[in-house]
Parts: sequence; structure tokens; C-alpha cells
Amino acid sequence: MRILSCCRMKRTDTMRKSSLKTSKSSVHETKPSKNADALSTIARSISMNTGGTKQRIMAEDVLRNGGRVPAEVVAVKQLDRNGVQGNREFLAEVLTLSLVHHTNLVNLIGYCADGRQRILVYDYMQNGSLEDQLLDLPLNKKPLDWYTRMQIAKGAAQGLEYLHDTANPPIIFRDFKASNILLDENFNPKLSDFGLAKLGPTGEQDHVSTRVMGTYGYCAPEYAKTGKLTTKSDVYSFGVVFLEIITGRRAIDSTKPPEEENLVDWATPLFKNRRKFTLLADPLLEGKYPVKGLFQAVAVAAMCLQEEASTRPLIGDVVTALEYLAMATDEVTSEADTAQDD
Ligand SMILES: Nc1ncnc2c1ncn2[C@@H]1O[C@H](COP(=O)(O)OP(=O)(O)O)[C@@H](O)[C@H]1O
Ligand SMILES: [Mg+2]
Repeated sequence: MRILSCCRMKRTDTMRKSSLKTSKSSVHETKPSKNADALSTIARSISMNTGGTKQRIMAEDVLRNGGRVPAEVVAVKQLDRNGVQGNREFLAEVLTLSLVHHTNLVNLIGYCADGRQRILVYDYMQNGSLEDQLLDLPLNKKPLDWYTRMQIAKGAAQGLEYLHDTANPPIIFRDFKASNILLDENFNPKLSDFGLAKLGPTGEQDHVSTRVMGTYGYCAPEYAKTGKLTTKSDVYSFGVVFLEIITGRRAIDSTKPPEEENLVDWATPLFKNRRKFTLLADPLLEGKYPVKGLFQAVAVAAMCLQEEASTRPLIGDVVTALEYLAMATDEVTSEADTAQDD
């Protein structure tokens, strides 16, 4: 068997093989697999090199098993070994991903807890994260086209819909952002990083009270102020990501002039003027988007970003709108047509 392990981790320390060799007994698979020893094999085989300032680690190891098992690629994440938060996130991730299964949620293959070592093993997503494809795209790579963007938004919304409406009790994702949306080889989106996920309110309650966690720029205003978390907090974060998808701009970008640093603050005045909607479209699209589709997408983003949580749509309604927007029925237009349509 040949295993290539791609690892991204918070800390840059090198993990020694020997520490993992002893962990065979505490390596667990989240569901039964034909290769009963696969996970312990992975854990034994990991060797790592540190990956610079972004604290990414690529680990590559080759194991041979008589050539019977086909090549397999997995992603391995090592959580911060020090501190309570790392352990809490590990537990939240393992518990949540063991309970929920959906095509738009990343698949956890297994986990390993050994001493202070906390390791998670996932299906490897070939196209990295939405952040990589949308906001950190190398100059020589083709930008995502309009309909791929809408398909990604639709799938990511379906992942949230499953967590909010199908999971029982509901789950609030709490850290919905571009770097937590992974893309497989066909650009199908999968939500990942469930370390902050929280069980939603039950009974009469409409919210859960928690410490404010999440990522600046994506956090709903009422949650940031009061710590009261609802599924509508995720809908707000979805609105921010959807705006990133439309504009190709980051939620917070300190390289921009001060009035453009915060994406929502920059875009909100433009929402009020339909004639200015086209200013919101990512220049990398080079005008190749359906005008009506752009208008409708901006309207959906604006609804999700309402200050008042109760006026935001349910994620199920967002999915319905996106199913329509992701269908390639409209003619993709050019910038010139856009001006005329206006
Ligand atoms: N299963 C995976 N396949 C491919 N890349 C992944 C996978 N999981 C994470 N990554 C990459 O590593 C980054 C960080 O992973 P994440 O689980 O969000 O950890 P963190 O806690 O550091 O945010 C992601 O944005 C993505 O680029
Ligand atoms: Mg993350």
C-alpha cells in the first residue's frame, strides 16, 4: 500500500515516528473499514517536515503491503498539543463528524489520541480550500468561473442546511469561512474544521450562550456582541463567504484602503443601488456572468447579512435560491452587455 499523507497543522514541531509507533492501540476508525489496520498503518507511517510560517506540514511516506491495496491519499491534521482548547476542538471534531454524514461535509477517516498527541485523518481534498481557489490563487491558475462559484455556494449551503435542519439536535457550525470549505477533485464543496461546532438550542430556547469564538470578519454582529448563538449566526457567515465568492475579495483585507478593508462595510452601500451591483463582481470573472444571476446573488448575500438576525433567511431558503442560481440557464454575458442591461 502506498500512502501519501498531506498534513496541515497549527504547530511546526516535527513529530517523531517513534511516538506514533506506540499509538497503535489508540488509533480509531470512525466507521468499519475493509482495511482494519489502515489507520494504525497510517499513524505508524507518518513522518513530517515542517512547512514554514503558514505552519503547514506536508508529510509523505510510502508503505508497501504486498501491493494488494491501491494507492490512498489522506489528509492528516495534528492539533495544538498544548492547551485545553486543542483538546476541546479535537473532541468537538471527533464527536460531530462521527455523528453526521453528508456529501457536503468532510469525511473523517479516523483519529488518534496518544498522550498529548491529537491527530485527525480525513479524506484528502485535491483542490484544497475555497480560500486557496478564490482568494490565494496563484497568477498562473485559472480563476473559478461563475457557475462553479454558484455550485460551490449551493453545496456549502446544503452542508449547513443538513447541520441546521436534519441533524437532531441541530448543530451550529460557528466557523463558516472560505478556509473551512474544502474542494474535492470536481470542486464539490465539503465543510471542514468542526472544532468550534456547537449543539444548537433545544426546547423553548432559541439560542445557546457561549464564549464568542469564530473568525473576525465572518462573525454575526449580535453573536459578537452578546455571545448568543443561533443558526442565523451561520447564515450571516454564509452571507460573508457568498460575498467573497461574488467579489473575489477577502472578508478582511488589510492591504486595501481603509474604506475597503472590511468587505461587508464596503459592499453594504452598493446593495442599495442596483446600478452599482456590477461593481461587486470579481474582476477576475472578466464580465463573464449572467447579469440577472449577479443581481439575484447579491440580493441573497444582502439578505443573509441583515443586521437583525430574525430577518435573515433560513439556510433552507438560501439553498432553494442557490439551486436556481447554480443552473446554467442564463446566457453568460460580457461587461458591455452588462452596461446596457443596467
Ligand atoms: N482534508 C483535507 N484535504 C486537503 N486539504 C485540507 C484538508 N483539511 C484541511 N486542509 C487544508 O488545511 C487548511 C487548514 O485546515 P483546518 O482543518 O481548517 O485547520 P485549522 O484548524 O488550522 O483552521 C485548510 O484551509 C485547507 O487548505
Ligand atoms: Mg480552519
